Amino acid sequence: MPSLTVIYPGSFDPPTNGHLDLISRGSRLVNHLIVAILQNSQKEPLFTTEERTAMLKEITAHLPNVEIDSFNGLLVDYAARRNVNTILRGIRAVSDYETELQMALLNRRLRPETETVFLTAAAEHSFVSSRMVKEIITLGGDVASVVPEAVAQRLRSKFPPAKR
Ligand code: PNS
Repeated sequence: MPSLTVIYPGSFDPPTNGHLDLISRGSRLVNHLIVAILQNSQKEPLFTTEERTAMLKEITAHLPNVEIDSFNGLLVDYAARRNVNTILRGIRAVSDYETELQMALLNRRLRPETETVFLTAAAEHSFVSSRMVKEIITLGGDVASVVPEAVAQRLRSKFPPAKR
């Protein structure tokens, strides 16, 4: 069987249990999985690239074939630089499908060798998003059940109860 490397791109601001589940399940299907953090998102990120890298390294430390990297600019250009043709993305609900289809088709138009493969989110994480996690923590809620403990700790120190 040929060796398969995939890129799992995203903002990961912050990484959630849903991301970690997808990384663990994806890593069992491939030889090498590169988690690629988008640096220059239009949205002002809550965590710096360095912080997101550190969190992702910590929560995937038990997965030997997972690498954490970051990129700027177009995903297809990054994939070309890494010599990888396969992108991995997760789909939580039908609402994700439209955006994901558009991204997959655009990426293939930009670089025809690009293939996008999808894993469906585990049911227990299908309602979790980084955006909601940020909203919950800034409004004083508890995020312990939706993000890994290392991420929850960083969120708590960024938003101590007095700042919420
Ligand atoms: O976690 P997200 O925010 O859903 O991830 C989106 C991401 C980072 C995969 C996407 O925005 C992306 O690839 N951005 C890089 C710029 C790019 O290549 N845009 C064209 C793709 S349609």
